[in-house]
Parts: sequence; C-alpha cells; structure tokens
Amino acid sequence: MIRASLAAATGLMALALTTPAAHAADCAVSNADPFELSETEVVELYACMEAKMLEGYTKEGDAVAAEYRTWAATATRPAVAGAHGERFLNTFANDIAAEQYTKFEEEGVVMPVGSVLAKESIKITKKAAVRVGPLFIMTKAAAGTAPETSDWVYSGVQPNGKPMKFKQSFCHDCHAAWEDQDSLAYPLEEVRISN
Ligand code: HEC
Repeated sequence: MIRASLAAATGLMALALTTPAAHAADCAVSNADPFELSETEVVELYACMEAKMLEGYTKEGDAVAAEYRTWAATATRPAVAGAHGERFLNTFANDIAAEQYTKFEEEGVVMPVGSVLAKESIKITKKAAVRVGPLFIMTKAAAGTAPETSDWVYSGVQPNGKPMKFKQSFCHDCHAAWEDQDSLAYPLEEVRISN
C-alpha cells in the first residue's frame, strides 16, 4: 500500500513538472486514449480518483453510493472494455450477488433476487483530462417484476450525486446480449477476482 501511494505521488510530481498548467491535486494521465495506459498507470489513476468518486456519488445521499465500497470487489483494478463510453470500469457486488457473480459463469446463470452490482467509472477526455464518470447500478427485482429487462432494474448516479435519467431499454438492449449470464457482462478476464 505504501509503495503504491509512493508510486502515485512520484507519478503526480513528474506530471506536475511536465504539465505546469495542471493543478497538483488533479489526477493526470499520459495519454488521451484509455487503451494506451499501462497497468501501473491505471493503478495510480485509481488511487488518485478513489476518494473523488465516492465524494461525488454520495453528495445527494444515494443509498447504493453510501454502501458499495463495503461490498465485494470483483476486479483487481479498473479496466476499459469499450462499452460504457470507453470509461475505466470497476464493479462491486453486494452480499447477495457476490458469490454467484464472482464465479463468472457463462451458462444458466440466475442471480438471486436482491443482487446489486455497482460499477464506478473514470472518464479520460479527448484532451487527456481525468473526470469522475457515473456509478452504474443493476438491481435484481422479484421474478415477474420487470419481464422486459429480465427483472433487472438499471439505475445510475451522476458524479454530482444526482440520479441518472435514461430508459431501461437503453441499458438492457445491450446487456440482453449476455442472455446465458443473466444479462451480466462481467469485468475483463485479466482483472477478475474469482471466489
Ligand atoms: C453498449 C453496451 C452496454 C450498454 C448500453 C450498457 N452496458 Fe453496462 N456493461 C456493458 C459491458 C460490456 C459491461 C462489462 C464491462 C466491464 O464492467 O468491464 C457492463 C457492465 C455493467 C455493470 C456491471 C455488471 C455486469 O454486467 O457485469 C453494470 C452495473 C452496468 N453495466 C450497468 C449499466 C447501466 C445502468 C446501463 C445504462 C445506463 C448500461 N450498463 C448500459 C455493456 C453495456
């Protein structure tokens, strides 16, 4: 832990020297293309953004935002999959969801009612600035509650703590592709934490 934060501090100092315009407290990256960042850089980015994300999501008292950091981590670090606006994504699973989710099974998956997955996100802008992205949430409702979305309820919290507004179909039209995994896409394989 100490080594990681030292590395993050060193990285920040180096950036402060090369980019005088950036405020020292800002998190920075070397490249506007998220796919080009090294694993070390992503780990440093997360260390720098960790507190900022939580601060934003919890501003308006959202219940999931208040809890998700105490849930099971499902990945070793954030990763960029492409979907979700090429943001870095990091998913947490509540107690009800964690055991099944972290098996990352590919067939016949049925998540228990009350499962909640919360996924924080970090956005790199075209100018390589770093921003908190939304907290994306999926909640499994009782069977038959939401037949059009396989009983998943999609929601989200903006970086300012306010709820996101969108149609359920916007999210589910994509997530439905993972039919055998109960609409779950899972983190990238190289970052998964299996139980
Ligand atoms: C274009 C496809 C697409 C759309 C649209 C989409 N997602 Fe996702 N979603 C993914 C992919 C791919 C992943 C897994 C990638 C990762 O987490 O690294 C994912 C993962 C998730 C997860 C973590 C659980 C899981 O599936 O493993 C949540 C929660 C989530 N999305 C919520 C949402 C919400 C809420 C919306 C609508 C606002 C939405 N998604 C829209 C593709 C999509």
